[in-house]
Amino acid sequence: MYTVAAMSENLTGTRILVVGGGRGIGAELARRTGAEGAEVVVATRSGPGPRIDVTDETTIARAAESLGAFDHVISTASAHHDVPVAELEHDRIRAAFAAKVVGPLLLAKHFAPLMPAGGSFLYFSGIVGWRPKPGTVVKGTANAALAALVTHLAVELAPLRVNAIAPGITDSGAWDALPDERRRALYDGATAASLAGRIGTLDDVTDAALWLLGAGWVTGETVHVDGGGRHR
Ligand SMILES: NC(=O)c1ccc[n+]([C@@H]2O[C@H](COP(=O)([O-])OP(=O)(O)OC[C@H]3O[C@@H](n4cnc5c(N)ncnc54)[C@H](OP(=O)(O)O)[C@@H]3O)[C@@H](O)[C@H]2O)c1
Repeated sequence: MYTVAAMSENLTGTRILVVGGGRGIGAELARRTGAEGAEVVVATRSGPGPRIDVTDETTIARAAESLGAFDHVISTASAHHDVPVAELEHDRIRAAFAAKVVGPLLLAKHFAPLMPAGGSFLYFSGIVGWRPKPGTVVKGTANAALAALVTHLAVELAPLRVNAIAPGITDSGAWDALPDERRRALYDGATAASLAGRIGTLDDVTDAALWLLGAGWVTGETVHVDGGGRHR
């Protein structure tokens, strides 16, 4: 007789830090890991809880000192700079890499030494890293760099695990600020490109994240949760 495993290990007794957990995918992940029994700490740049701005190492160091050990550290931080090459601005390029590449390295620097056996880091890349198109060179390169980063970190920090999720276009709330017409065009384009014939949901992405947190034999990987959208 088979027993069907739960989507993830039961997280009871674990402590999880969600950086960027104030909204979007991070907020839903905080809610779901909490529902699985974890003690969840949400760190934001300006919310009511502990403050972490991944572009400011002092805030990371202070948080590690004051909050102590976590079994899992998650970051969804990102900063966009989607312009043609001729319009690139140095500060905004740096901000994009600070959020997606430098920040994850600094989180590892300060939190890995405190992490118990079985601990993991989970970071967020994105489909654009594998789908080059004009106007997305910064985001694409930062997301692809994050995929390289998790393999390198996984080797150096082993047996701690380090993984990333690369979502496709997902209705996380992140696109709500776009004018309706632009959002519809984005969603229609992503639906047409997706082999699954739709954009992603918060459940699609957080199901994968919950699985990765408990996937003890998976490390150094970027899991593509994009409906196959990077294949065409
Ligand atoms: N949604 C999609 O379609 C999609 C597609 C591909 C990849 N992704 C990736 O998946 C991740 C989550 O996406 P999402 O849709 O949830 O995005 P989101 O709604 O824009 O959320 C991003 C979160 O990161 C936080 N953040 C930004 N910069 C930060 C910094 N310097 N330090 C700490 N926190 C910072 C934001 O906090 P504040 O509230 O302080 O701004 C926010 O909570 C992102 O990395 C994104 O690039 C998303």
